Parts: sequence; structure tokens; C-alpha cells
Amino acid sequence: MDPIIEQMRRHTSVRDFKDEPLNDEVKKELLLAAQSGSSSNFVQAYSIIEIADKKLRKTIADITNSAPYVKQTGVFYVFVADLYRQATMLENKGLSIDGIKTMEQLLVATVDTTIAAENMAVAAESLGLGICYIGGIRNEIRQIAQLLQLPKYTFPLFGMTIGIPNSKNQVKPRMPLANQVAVDRYDTKQMTDLNQYDQRVRDYYLSRNSNPQDNSWTDKNIDFFKEIRRPDVGPFLRDQGFSLS
Ligand SMILES: Cc1cc2nc3c(=O)[nH]c(=O)nc-3n(C[C@H](O)[C@H](O)[C@H](O)COP(=O)(O)O)c2cc1C
Repeated sequence: MDPIIEQMRRHTSVRDFKDEPLNDEVKKELLLAAQSGSSSNFVQAYSIIEIADKKLRKTIADITNSAPYVKQTGVFYVFVADLYRQATMLENKGLSIDGIKTMEQLLVATVDTTIAAENMAVAAESLGLGICYIGGIRNEIRQIAQLLQLPKYTFPLFGMTIGIPNSKNQVKPRMPLANQVAVDRYDTKQMTDLNQYDQRVRDYYLSRNSNPQDNSWTDKNIDFFKEIRRPDVGPFLRDQGFSLS
């Protein structure tokens, strides 16, 4: 198998790192890899903030529900979806910024940011490092924005913790392709026929070394989606200047 694809298929999130900061050279490599991703209309609508200050890192870690591996890691980045540059350009020319505020541009910024992050993740794993995305920063999205002094037309999308793994989880089984891939049309029956996958995921959860549990993929998803999570995110995005329409 191609070594890059092989590495991608071995991906597991790492939640246990050595207490060793990454050096500047490695961090630069990771940042340049992140920047090399595709970008919708080349708008490059993101910024990446390294959380270097120990006290600030602790404050953020405590918000995330993932504190041990945000505190003890090689580096912790916050990925910020960012249209502030473009807003500034338009404002400097005395032009309307209505074109910045739309749901479409919010999606553009979110996608650009995510592509950069995943590029960084793949680059980190190719260097033998481990990564974990940290959406937990959105548990207190307003506080994170305040701490990082984020201007309007930006929002903190997720963090990423990267470091030298102490231990690694087993690879989580993904859905059979038949549940996620179609040709020419969406097949509602095929995409929701999850019995076989549920059994595989249950076997995985029961047999894994850390935090074993008796749950299927369906169980987990029902549990996750049965309630409204992070209801503050929408109102916060409005306050940041997005119209959400
Ligand atoms: C956007 C995003 C946010 C995530 N946030 C967290 C988080 O806050 N804490 C955590 O431990 N894992 C987090 N994860 C990791 C997922 O739980 C993990 O990717 C998923 O369970 C699949 O496992 P794997 O990455 O080991 O294959 C996040 C993943 C993504 C893509």
C-alpha cells in the first residue's frame, strides 16, 4: 500500500503525550503543511494561534473536558475561522461588508480552516507525532474568543493538540463503504442499514484496552444527538457579525 495512505488508515486520536515541547523547526513544518491545503477562491480564511502561555493553556484546557492532553502535549493550536482580514480590506475602501456576513462565507471559512487543520494532522502523523482535535474549546466559545482577543468575523473552530505519543488507541473501525458511498443517487436504505457496522463497533468498544464499553455506533449517536449541544454557538456567531442566512 502507498505509505501515505497506509499512514492515513492507521490514524487514531492520541490522548496521552510525553511532556516534551515540539521545537520551532517542527512547528514551522507543521504550519507550512497546514497552509498548503486548498482554499476556496484562495481566500485563506483562517488563522492559527499557538497557546504557548502555560496559564492560558491551563484555562483553555479546563474548558475543553480534555484537560490532560491539552496541558501535557508538544504544542496546542487553536484554529480560528477568519474573515477579519477581508472585512478590514473592504472597510478600508469604504465598501459594504455584507458579503462577509453570509452563511455561505461562514461555511467557506469553516471549510478552509478544517482543510488546513487536517493537512497539519497528516503532516504531524507523518513525522511520527500524534494529534487530537479539540472541539471542546466550543464548550465556552465566548470565553475562548475573549481570551484570544478575537475580532469580529472570526470564531474559534477547534483546537489541535500535537505531541509525541506516550500511548496510542486502537484504530476505530469506520463504516462499511456501502453505508457511506453511492453512485449517481443517495440511497436512504443503504446509508441507514447499520446493523453490521453496529456489531463491529460494539465488538471494538468491548475489546479495546482503554475505557471498554458495551455500545454500538447507533447507541453513541442517539446519545449524542438526543439533546441540543452548545446552544450558545449560534448566538455567538451572530454577535461576531455573521447573519447566519
Ligand atoms: C472537529 C473535531 C473535534 C474533536 N474534539 C475532540 C475533543 O474535544 N476531545 C477529544 O478527546 N477528542 C475530540 N475529537 C476526536 C474524535 O473524538 C475522534 O476523531 C473520533 O472519536 C474518531 O476517533 P479517531 O480519531 O481515533 O479515529 C474531535 C474530532 C474532531 C474531528
